Amino acid sequence: MTEYGPETYGERVADVYDTWYGDLGDAGAEVAVLAELAAGGRALELGIGTGRVALPLAARGVEVHGIDASAAMVERLRAKPGGGAIPVTIGDMTEVGVEGPFRLVFVVFNTFFMLPSQEAQVRCMANVASVLEPGGRFLLHAFVPDVSRFRDDQELTVRSVGVDEVRLDASRYDPHLQRVDSTQIRITEAGTRLVHTRLRFAYPPELDLMARLAGLEPESRWGSFRREPFTADSAFHVTVYRKPA
Ligand SMILES: C[S@@+](CC[C@H](N)C(=O)[O-])C[C@H]1O[C@@H](n2cnc3c(N)ncnc32)[C@H](O)[C@@H]1O
Repeated sequence: MTEYGPETYGERVADVYDTWYGDLGDAGAEVAVLAELAAGGRALELGIGTGRVALPLAARGVEVHGIDASAAMVERLRAKPGGGAIPVTIGDMTEVGVEGPFRLVFVVFNTFFMLPSQEAQVRCMANVASVLEPGGRFLLHAFVPDVSRFRDDQELTVRSVGVDEVRLDASRYDPHLQRVDSTQIRITEAGTRLVHTRLRFAYPPELDLMARLAGLEPESRWGSFRREPFTADSAFHVTVYRKPA
């Protein structure tokens, strides 16, 4: 079986990423919040991918930088109008090996959970704090874990059934590591497409603790980029941490 590393997801999904996820979510509201937090300063996206968010943010005049482990994802970004002008470092976001300071560092669409262990996540937060300018913000957007969907630590979901395609998600859950290994399976007459994701999830209080360890203060938590209140029913959260001035 192929080893799974920081670059594996991107290398496997790059050619279809924009078709599958290009119009995902509420990009207008997302970019508006990020532009406001960047407040005329430099911004850094962890796991910038094909530029789904970074490109419209740069189009609003924000100086956006990026880091990503997958050269194939970044190649897609660079091929788009404006993509060549965004400085991107190929590397592991655990280390945040980019020269600061930044007024805003952000990681969206569950990408923080792609760091495979608590240790890597703690290290990433500390490195984020070190490249933030005083008063700068770290925005993290991710799902709120819901382990009730697993039975016997596994789940098989039928996403769609059609004449030309069947989509399944097969997942295994490790409660001790808080890790979910999922393979998206798309079956067509031409063949089967597999995209594997390994996520180490964390509940919001654990993320807050990691932030505190890094010297960041929790500032806001919303249920969406439209700044809806975060409640016990929220499936996602948008959290902003601040480096003290
Ligand atoms: C779900 S995609 C999100 C891309 C983009 N931020 C967006 O919202 O569309 C996750 C991205 O993170 C990258 N990635 C995953 N693990 C990484 C790591 N350890 N270091 C840097 N990039 C990573 C992947 O290559 C991929 O481009």
